[in-house]
Formats: sequence, C-alpha cells, structure tokens
Amino acid sequence: MHKSVLPKEVIEYLKPKPGENFIDCTLGQGGHAFSILDLTGPSGQVLGIDWDKESLNRFCAQHPDLKPQRLIVANGNYSRIREIAEKLDFKPVNGVLLDIGLSSWHFEESGRGFGFSKDEYLDMRYDTGVPESASGLVNRLPQKDLERILREWGEEKFARSISRKIVVDRARKPITTTLELVEAVKKGVPTRYHDRRPHFATRTFQALRIAVNHELENLETALPSAYGILSPGGRLVVISFHSLEDRIVKNRFRELKASEGAIILTKKPISPQQEEINSNPRSRSAKLRAIMKPEA
Ligand SMILES: C[S@@+](CC[C@H](N)C(=O)[O-])C[C@H]1O[C@@H](n2cnc3c(N)ncnc32)[C@H](O)[C@@H]1O
Repeated sequence: MHKSVLPKEVIEYLKPKPGENFIDCTLGQGGHAFSILDLTGPSGQVLGIDWDKESLNRFCAQHPDLKPQRLIVANGNYSRIREIAEKLDFKPVNGVLLDIGLSSWHFEESGRGFGFSKDEYLDMRYDTGVPESASGLVNRLPQKDLERILREWGEEKFARSISRKIVVDRARKPITTTLELVEAVKKGVPTRYHDRRPHFATRTFQALRIAVNHELENLETALPSAYGILSPGGRLVVISFHSLEDRIVKNRFRELKASEGAIILTKKPISPQQEEINSNPRSRSAKLRAIMKPEA
C-alpha cells in the first residue's frame, strides 16, 4: 500500500476550497487526490493523470464507486498536461500537484524491475509505449554513455568501473534481469561497500530509470506548462525525491518568478517531519516546493 508523502503539507500549500478544481499529475493510488476531493466538495473536481496505464486501471478497479463528475482520470505523461487538460476542457485550474517518481506498487508488485529485491525482467518503463526498456539500454549503449548516465543521473562515484563491468558481463550474455544487473554492479563497487546502506545498486537503478523514462525532461517540460494553465491565484506544488529533480524545480520556479512574476511560497524546500519519516521511510528524501500565480 502506497502511503502518500507530505499529505498535510500538500493541503497546506494547495489550499483547496469548496468548488475549486485541481490537477493531480501523478495520481498513483490517489491518496493526495482523495484528500483534495474531501475539501472541494460538493462540486470541485480533480483531474487525476498517470502515465502508467496498469497502475491507473488498478486504481479504477479498486474504486468502482468513484463519481466521474468529481474525479476524472486520464492516462498520459504530465509533460503534456496542457494538452490533456484542454482536450478534457478541464478549467479553471486552481492548483496542480506533481508527486514525482514511482509508487510503492511499482517496487513491490509491478514486476517491471524497478527495484532489486526480486529477480524480474529489467524493464523500468512506466509506459510500455516507451521504445526501449532498461535492459535494452544496458545492452546497447557504449560504455562511455553508460558511465555518463550513472555519473550524471545516479551521481554514482563508481560510474566508470560499474559501466566497465556491465560491458564485460553483457559480452558473455545480455543482461535482462534485475539480479544480473546487481551482480555486474557489485563487481564494479569496492567490497567494503557491499554491505553498506543505501544498497550499492541504488544509484545505478535510479540513473537507468531516469534515462529510460526521460524523467528529467518530462519534469522540465511540465513545470512551465502546469504554471501556464493555472488561473490567477492558482498554486503549483511539486514533491521531488532526489537532488537532480529538486534542482530543476528550484531553477524553473526562479525563472517563472523572473519572467511571469510567480510568487515563491517555499523559500526553502519543505521536508517531512521525523514522525512521518518513522512511519513512512520512503518519505525520507522528499522535498516540497510551491509557487503561486499572482491574483489578477
Ligand atoms: C509517487 S507516485 C504518486 C502517488 C500519489 N500521489 C498517491 O498519493 O498515491 C507517482 C506516480 O506518478 C506516475 N508517473 C511517473 N512519471 C509520470 C509522468 N511523466 N506523467 C504522469 N505520471 C507519471 C507513476 O506511474 C506513479 O503512479
């Protein structure tokens, strides 16, 4: 079961009121969307978007009594938020939420190799329409490109030796499963790191997931589009989970302040309280930032 991250803070910064409309760009299991709906009744709507069709179908199957006039669901990439909202004629937009990344379901049940606790096909795509899986990338890219991905998007200090071991292993047999990749990574990391936390393969998996799904480009595109469709006084709230994403959010928000007069509501990013981290360790690295479009 996915526990929504920073639930109180999302509400504090989105400030939903009765009759208002919100877009939840990362519906997941709907935790944030439902708490917004609780505060916007009886007529406010939420447009819930998720790129992962299987996750979305599962959500709909679990909530057969959903009132479509209040929660509208759409499958799509949040980089296309404007197009999705326009197609559904969803307006005005009083607030937008992005809770970036993947849900616990992806790790635990999707069977797509997002984590390394189970041996699964090394897929890592949210949308199976994305042309190449993580296994495809790992077996195709030249060593230098793999090294760059691990260094830039995993901030992995052993990027060179890991990428070299991957290339050696795949020459013997293509790497197609999570545990085959973990084995290659292990050979590229000094032995003293093998039992340390976080797990030595964490950064490699993060980097590949970012590469496969073009996660940073999606975020770069989504932020100005989301801001653009807000009505005056509307708010944009973003939760990110690693420094690369947070840097993009911070910089884009600054640009929107300079070019459009956006009001930054969080001078510093908001992190979860220790109590939340204890009950939901996944929230540990979460950072929330929010901006507001000036009132007309
Ligand atoms: C952290 S979960 C959201 C959890 C949700 N806020 C909740 O309370 O249950 C992120 C969700 O975003 C989806 N996602 C990832 N990249 C996306 C993208 N580019 N566009 C739309 N959805 C995306 C994932 O499939 C996942 O379900």
